[in-house]
Amino acid sequence: MGTKAKRLVVANWKMNPKSDKEALALFKELAEGLKDLKEVDVVVCPSFLHIPAIVYSGKGRNLQLGAQNMFWEEKGAFTGEVSPAQLSGFGVKYVILGHSERRKIGETDEIIAKKVRAALDVGFTPILCIGETLDDRNSGEWSNRLNFQLRCGLENVRREEMGNVAILYEPFWAVGTSRACGAKEARETRLFAEDSIGGFYNDPNISKDINSLYGGSVTSKNAGSYVKEAGYNGLLVGGASLDPKEFIKIIKAVA
Ligand code: 13P
Repeated sequence: MGTKAKRLVVANWKMNPKSDKEALALFKELAEGLKDLKEVDVVVCPSFLHIPAIVYSGKGRNLQLGAQNMFWEEKGAFTGEVSPAQLSGFGVKYVILGHSERRKIGETDEIIAKKVRAALDVGFTPILCIGETLDDRNSGEWSNRLNFQLRCGLENVRREEMGNVAILYEPFWAVGTSRACGAKEARETRLFAEDSIGGFYNDPNISKDINSLYGGSVTSKNAGSYVKEAGYNGLLVGGASLDPKEFIKIIKAVA
């Protein structure tokens, strides 16, 4: 059985920064600012293009590398795709899968399920993203939506592998909007998701093995509440991860 990670904070740089130089400067500042921090696993997910420069710089061995997406096949005629094996060669250990920004441009639950399986097969921790629209939230449909995304995303995952998967709850309406989810709602959703997963595997004690993360307009002001009040094991940070001082404050708030 896999083990639940320490507190986990993931920086999702999305399609920023614009050059190797900028990416390296940001990475180095983070590595330096976090060099004494032991209580939290910090994962940086740059664009595929900036991963080599970061690795070759030899900096930031206290930080882990993640990818923002990947393909599910190992190699072959798949134009424009990046494989798990290619990422693994650069020391990547985590991969964000099914992010709302990819679901919006057509990534399906079926595709996500294949990617989750491929990530586990190569030894990565897949960060499976789930979330609902504002309409789903307001109409009460959110629970069915999340249950469906979880059921599909975990379809090829065995019970004993759950400790190697992270589940990211990212309400679509909170991603990049400055409208963060309240701690109470986030807690209720976490419990619902963990309960659903317990149902799939017929194991009511599964929550001890689930790495539940929250993402969506996280700042240094609200970060602590998701861990301390809502019971998440960590966070995924988008916009605020591009500001090293703010990102370091976020990490310290959950440590
Ligand atoms: P923001 O932190 O910019 O809202 O992005 C969060 C995100 O991508 C959650 O998955």
